[in-house]
Amino acid sequence: MSMTDSQLFNTACDAMKKAYAPYSECYVGAALVCDDGSVYTGCNIENAAFTPGICAERTAISKAVSEGKRRFTKIMVVGGKDGVIKGTFPPCGVCRQVLREFCDDDFEVMFGVSEDNIEHHTMKEILPFSFSSKDM
Ligand code: THU
Repeated sequence: MSMTDSQLFNTACDAMKKAYAPYSECYVGAALVCDDGSVYTGCNIENAAFTPGICAERTAISKAVSEGKRRFTKIMVVGGKDGVIKGTFPPCGVCRQVLREFCDDDFEVMFGVSEDNIEHHTMKEILPFSFSSKDM
């Protein structure tokens, strides 16, 4: 049975607790759902040299693609300073573009604040006028 949005929120929160974020102290977690119902999680992993740091969303998509998954239906993203969620923590521009590589306009993007406060968006909304393989 597929996960409910509130279960997905809790899964993303568990991933957020694994964040390695000693520099920004912003903890971020993501839970990416594949079209077969499997779920891949990710957290942000920072680095002393700063630029090698990776966001939670790209950790999740890297895990999934490296396991052979390429078709996704939705993602839940949560985050907050010191791991305390006070509002939405939307994906950065780089993560939006990386998601776009594998996700169509109707891919669902959720920003979780609590189990019963989840913002629903689509790929097209968060990355309008996007550049993708379709433009090549
Ligand atoms: N971060 C994410 O994990 N996801 C995003 O899309 C926004 C930013 C992380 C990167 C960095 O470790 C911290 O949040 C502060 O930018």
